[in-house]
Amino acid sequence: MIYSRIAGTGSYLPPRVMTNDDFAKRLDTSDAWIRERTGIVQRHIADEAQCSSDLALEASRAALQASGTPAQDVDLIVVATSTPDYIFPSTACLLQAKLGVRGCAAFDVQAVCSGFVYALATADTFLKSGQYRKALVVGAEVFSRILDWDDRATCVLFGDGAGAVVLAADSKPGIHASVLHADGSQVGLLSVPGNVCKGQIVGSPFLQMNGQGVFKFAVKVLDEVGRETVSRAGMSMEEVDWLIPHQANVRILDATARKLGIAPEKLVSTVDHHGNTSAASVPLALDEFVRSGKIRPGHRVLMEGVGGGFTWGASLATM
Ligand code: ACO
Repeated sequence: MIYSRIAGTGSYLPPRVMTNDDFAKRLDTSDAWIRERTGIVQRHIADEAQCSSDLALEASRAALQASGTPAQDVDLIVVATSTPDYIFPSTACLLQAKLGVRGCAAFDVQAVCSGFVYALATADTFLKSGQYRKALVVGAEVFSRILDWDDRATCVLFGDGAGAVVLAADSKPGIHASVLHADGSQVGLLSVPGNVCKGQIVGSPFLQMNGQGVFKFAVKVLDEVGRETVSRAGMSMEEVDWLIPHQANVRILDATARKLGIAPEKLVSTVDHHGNTSAASVPLALDEFVRSGKIRPGHRVLMEGVGGGFTWGASLATM
């Protein structure tokens, strides 16, 4: 039996930091309101010259180094992003070129904030089938580009960043189980309802959200899919060492852990210092806890995503 295992992690946050007080200087909001409702204290904003592939490159280099994998050994690149550099080619192809390699399969996955979990499950399936041996799985976003900076209800929530893992074929799991779901009828909860047509933007280029609707939906499905994934792995919730839900806001994280019956000290929460980075949030949080020595080899980690679509999913992995 072939399994896939996370062999190394990496992440990148652009250097420019924007605090809640920076928003309060130009919008009718406050540090207290943002902290209390979201737990977010600051977020990182990419330089105008930086695209998702640039952030992905930094995170990928760190993950490749951590796993001792030369870039030319990678035979599959999957990038999860909703803020690609171009309409085409894919950000994965642009990343491949920036890594200085060619020939391996490369494509993007578009599942918004569930993107990393979708990409991980996709790469895991390829590795388990024996088709590939080493995959680079990345979540990279520049959500700052699709925000209406005058809309206080949305622009304070998000940030830019990237996270990556190297997934390697192994005789032991690794990834025990992944579960993915979607419900396209929930498009009205969260979207960027626009496109480019004949040189013009048709619709809106800005993120639109029903905040309370998203909150309720997210907590419900993160609970359900967490249970489904642990059950499919043939394990119990007590065997989970760490829960990494999509880092949307602290209240969603706390409510999810509570519903799943996972103790607060097992909950990975990094959203305070980078905001919601969409597809990058789970691998960013994973990398931070791996590098700080909290998540160690042998630990079981339940990673969960939820986002626009609506999409949601989870993966349970032994590190
Ligand atoms: N500063 C000050 N006041 C604000 C701000 C702000 N940044 N944003 C909204 N308000 C105001 C509203 O205008 C409203 O004012 P009103 O009563 O005069 O109309 C008031 O605050 C309450 O607004 P609500 O939307 O009811 O506030 P709520 O308590 O629901 O908090 C929030 C809003 C934080 C967005 C919450 O609904 C939430 O966390 N939702 C989840 C959304 C999320 O995480 N989205 C991320 C993308 S989806 C994903 O990643 C899965």
